[in-house]
Amino acid sequence: MTAPYTTRIVTAPQPGGPDALRLEETTLAPPGRGEILIQVAAAGVNRPDVIERMGFYPPPPGAPKGLGLEVSGTVLAIGEGVSGFDIGQSVCALVAGGGYADIARAPAGSVLPVPEGVDLVAAAGLPETVLTVWTNVFEAGALKSGERFLVHGGSSGIGTTAIQMAKAHGAVVMATAGTRDKCETCRSLGADHVFNYREDDWAEGVKAAGGADVILDMVGGDYVAKNLAVLNRFGRLVQIAFLKGSRVEIDLMGLMLKRQTITGSTLRARSNEEKAALAAAVRTHVWPWVEAGRVRPLIDSRFALADVAKAHERMDSMAHAGKILLVP
Ligand SMILES: NC(=O)c1ccc[n+]([C@@H]2O[C@H](COP(=O)([O-])OP(=O)(O)OC[C@H]3O[C@@H](n4cnc5c(N)ncnc54)[C@H](OP(=O)(O)O)[C@@H]3O)[C@@H](O)[C@H]2O)c1
Repeated sequence: MTAPYTTRIVTAPQPGGPDALRLEETTLAPPGRGEILIQVAAAGVNRPDVIERMGFYPPPPGAPKGLGLEVSGTVLAIGEGVSGFDIGQSVCALVAGGGYADIARAPAGSVLPVPEGVDLVAAAGLPETVLTVWTNVFEAGALKSGERFLVHGGSSGIGTTAIQMAKAHGAVVMATAGTRDKCETCRSLGADHVFNYREDDWAEGVKAAGGADVILDMVGGDYVAKNLAVLNRFGRLVQIAFLKGSRVEIDLMGLMLKRQTITGSTLRARSNEEKAALAAAVRTHVWPWVEAGRVRPLIDSRFALADVAKAHERMDSMAHAGKILLVP
């Protein structure tokens, strides 16, 4: 293929529902210094893409045009100053945008080899969730082997990854989910205690199970005070989203007495250098778990790129468990 490259991308020119998504054709310049172009085998669909589609999550400056934060595929072209990759190599990557495409542009530091034993398409489900879980649970939350870990949204892309990574690390794992089937999914991935938040009082359940040392929360709202109530002494609450609201009321007395920490982060806004350091840590610490079969991307469903609206409808329905993928 000669440059410039031609690719389809997905945009949402007018914020809205899945029918706001548009497939358009565009040209891509050859990779710049430090960049790699990837012939996409699959792209992961993530909740942040839905928020971007709705107009509440503007891409950071300089991000490639179009939706999509993670891909798998083969190396198509390599920019100057990049070493360690070969044309045709199977890779997966975190991208700042433009992942729902035939060809995606990635900073080389955010590109990882596909772990041995993982299908090239399924590998698209790894980068966003694995990097998010690593930085929030293991770096910020400093989860130690033997500690008690609770993840809300246990059947989500993030949740299914967090359960497996925490388990592989030797933690006691607790999860919440909203249906019996989703609870079963969490158990099948290794969660020791699972609470159906629509049927049980999950906070009572977690307390009875010994409390939590680290909590990964995407729900926010009234969960925050409950999280702090079940968080043990020196416990760490890590916030990665706030599906029930970002403004909350908490009692600082309990936090002080139990010497708890509240923190949180976003991944997309980080610099290429920060993402490269994170990708390197994941390659060292998490890829061996993946290659040993202890952490696997759980794939809910696959859709053709042209059916991107259907993929977003599935995500909007909240019926999925694990990752939704788009295949060009
Ligand atoms: N900060 C970061 O860097 C970062 C990076 C990636 C993702 N995220 C965030 O992490 C979250 C998960 O992402 P994802 O792509 O894995 O999305 P996802 O698969 O759609 O997961 C969303 C989950 O939220 C749960 N949920 C929704 N409303 C709830 C409520 N009211 N109470 C309890 N649980 C509720 C759902 O569980 P049930 O169906 O069981 O209710 C579902 O499993 C998203 O909010 C996303 O924005 C943050």
